[in-house]
Amino acid sequence: MTRYAHITGWGHAVPDQVLTNDDLARRVDTSDEWIRSRTGIRERRIAAPGEYTSTLATRAAAEALRMAGVHPRDVDLIIVATNTPDYIFPATAALVQDALGASKAGAFDLQAACTGFVYALTIAADMIKAGGIHTALVIGAETLSRIVDWEDRNTCVLFGDGAGAFVLEAAEEPGGVITSVLRADGSGAELLMLPTCGTRHPVSPKALEERLQYLRMNGREVFRFATRVMNSATREVVAKAGLSLEDIHWIAPHQANRRIIEAAAKALKRPLDDFLLNLDRYGNTSTASIPLVIYEAAQEGRIQPGQYGVLVAFGAGLIWGATLVQWTGPRPARKPPRMAWHRRVAQVGSWMRRVRRQVEGLLAR
Ligand code: UT7
Repeated sequence: MTRYAHITGWGHAVPDQVLTNDDLARRVDTSDEWIRSRTGIRERRIAAPGEYTSTLATRAAAEALRMAGVHPRDVDLIIVATNTPDYIFPATAALVQDALGASKAGAFDLQAACTGFVYALTIAADMIKAGGIHTALVIGAETLSRIVDWEDRNTCVLFGDGAGAFVLEAAEEPGGVITSVLRADGSGAELLMLPTCGTRHPVSPKALEERLQYLRMNGREVFRFATRVMNSATREVVAKAGLSLEDIHWIAPHQANRRIIEAAAKALKRPLDDFLLNLDRYGNTSTASIPLVIYEAAQEGRIQPGQYGVLVAFGAGLIWGATLVQWTGPRPARKPPRMAWHRRVAQVGSWMRRVRRQVEGLLAR
């Protein structure tokens, strides 16, 4: 039997606090006009002091589970894709597992920068298709506001906090997560990184003085790389699925910069309307950006069962990738199936055999 991995629930979580471009212009030498025209971003969400990547991830996951009608104890695997884990270890996914009460789930974090959600979705879907697990939670969650240098206008205007989650379930009907392409080129590692907190440059007074605990980026080079790979990865994944670009109903791009998405639309010869967009309200939420934009589109009915969509992302590493899905949506409410008469007879037979063995055991003493 061929198994498929369907997306049966989706959820989201964003902090309440909104930081507008005008708010930023009061902190650094920038303007609403510059940010909007160069990036398309108008505002972003910022986590409150008591909010962490794990708490946003848990809220998004709980909503996705409710929609799918899946109890947390029926989840086999939780993957949290993140660049801003609560700790280097333990895994944020383990904190989410505990908060949800997913008592039978394995849990791990996945670090593939902004492409993390695409990687996590691919791994979970392939495990379901291989038969190793039945139900997975795939989460992209970030509190990037905690690693942004609020004195650096080149980067602080770009990022925001949030989380998105999908429930994946095994099914016999074709559809769901079809295929992916995953790529990396570590020769570009220095273009976008957080220099300290790892083991190469441990936290030290000198590192803090040099502000190495904050994200650094060569924006121009990342922009160039992004426009190239959004086009190539989308084309590759569509070809790998045996489809053509005309078969694709919508594209969910990583929400980094509207100009990057416009360039991809041009290169793919598709109208911008085919691209799901919400970066104007959330900025770049890294691993959360694709599940967040799909969440909104699905809630608005913009994406429909049966449609083909491409999720495409790029980021630090350099790492990029794309996943092709056939959207299905939540299943109708499931009732426990009635047991067929021959299975009931077999169950009664096995129960009687067990009782007989116990009685014989007692008599033999
Ligand atoms: O998830 C993946 C992560 N990253 C990305 O996807 C980012 C990709 N890169 C980008 O989106 C763009 O490169 C940026 C939005 C970061 C920058 O846009 P740009 O058009 O490439 O600007 P630039 O870096 O070439 O800078 C142009 C000018 C510079 O001034 P000078 O040197 O020409 O005098 C910058 O200092 O704009 C200046 N600038 C700003 N001015 C006002 C840079 N940031 C700002 C700012 N406000 N916030």
